[in-house]
Amino acid sequence: MPDQRFPDEFVWGAATSAYQIEGATEEDGRGVSVWDTFAAVPGNVKNGDTGTPAADHYHRLGEDLGLMTSLGLRGYRFSIAWPRVQPTGAGRPDQRGIDFYRRLVEGLRERGIHPMATLFHWDLPQALQDAGGWENRDTAERFAEYAEIMFDALEIRDWLTINEPKTVVECGYRAGVHAPGIQDDGRAFVALHHLLLGHGLASRVLHDRHPGRRIGPALNLHPTYAADGAPETAKAVWHQDGLENRLYLDPIFTGAYPEDTLAWIAERSPMKDHIRDGDLATISEPVDVLGVQYYNPNFLDAEGNRVLKHPTAQLDWLEIYPRGLYDTLTRLRSDYPEVPIVVTENGVPAPDEVGPDGTVDDGGRITFLRDHLAAVRDALAEGVPVEGYYVWSLLDNFEWAEGYSARFGIVHVDYATQKRTLKNSALWYRDVIATGRLG
Ligand code: NOJ
Repeated sequence: MPDQRFPDEFVWGAATSAYQIEGATEEDGRGVSVWDTFAAVPGNVKNGDTGTPAADHYHRLGEDLGLMTSLGLRGYRFSIAWPRVQPTGAGRPDQRGIDFYRRLVEGLRERGIHPMATLFHWDLPQALQDAGGWENRDTAERFAEYAEIMFDALEIRDWLTINEPKTVVECGYRAGVHAPGIQDDGRAFVALHHLLLGHGLASRVLHDRHPGRRIGPALNLHPTYAADGAPETAKAVWHQDGLENRLYLDPIFTGAYPEDTLAWIAERSPMKDHIRDGDLATISEPVDVLGVQYYNPNFLDAEGNRVLKHPTAQLDWLEIYPRGLYDTLTRLRSDYPEVPIVVTENGVPAPDEVGPDGTVDDGGRITFLRDHLAAVRDALAEGVPVEGYYVWSLLDNFEWAEGYSARFGIVHVDYATQKRTLKNSALWYRDVIATGRLG
């Protein structure tokens, strides 16, 4: 269906997260987060970059809201920095932190932009990490308390609980390349269970206190494919699908961890000992809206190693394969109960620069976004209930262990001057939003 229009009510959005754009890490009583601690250790982040200044969004809220209006955005997904609200992750909230997000939400409302708030996008209060972080069941309880504070403070319909629990498990606790920098499978899967428990507890609080609002997880899903036709490869693909997708989708949607993955985990982690009666009922609290984040597929060989079959982006894990988004969306429909879906992240990094004529020529990003949006449109045509799409990201920002070297924004940020420049992709997206067509 080459140039079919998207539905009128389709939510064209852009996404960001607190630690990646806000800066101002020591202002207004904000507590220390695990990412402040992690980034301060030489060697953890490229070029020694940290979360300051990032895009200095904390001080440039008005300007950034103006950018959103100039693009015609219908939706904006942001995250709340838990350490701004509860500097030590517990106890009385700091009103200054809450007020910042109130101003943001008010600004969005005035502009007719739909807000979508993520409660946890990786910046755990350091004090909670010192008490065991996500390995400690208590963190899930604290998370639900913090969620309750924010549900009451902000008049927002749509909420996301945990951003990419898999990345916390895989990068934070297995590979050790993200905060808290742990390399231990045993601990990783204990953390996984408590992340999902936190998701369920917070969802339940919203359902109890604010019926009519919606909540769900933001899951990064990776479709897995065989790179060859060997029977061992098919086995490796199913195993990896467990670790990448079913380990998150099954407990949330069906109330049970996948048996094969659980058996594999049991050989390396005491996770099972931490699952208490009733936990899976909590974790499978109904999902009102599912956030899907898609970047790349996993093509695998018989040993389960990734094989790159398509061109990659600036970051070489990002193998470009738009069909993977279509496959992910249609698979959700065939394997899981139907819920409204929002693509809460999709995007591509590049070493973008402002040219002598003042423009940023990011044609590769335009192609990437167009092809992935075409995949969304194809899934819509199959009847998959995709309500919206949030490009990652509105602004260039702190790309975790890559620091400022990888630019995902459709708006360029000059970190020295904090000048914002719309990249060509932003101008293209503005037209897509205005016409409802990919052009
Ligand atoms: C997913 C994460 O949620 C986001 O924080 C990150 O910047 C993008 N992927 C790109 O790696």
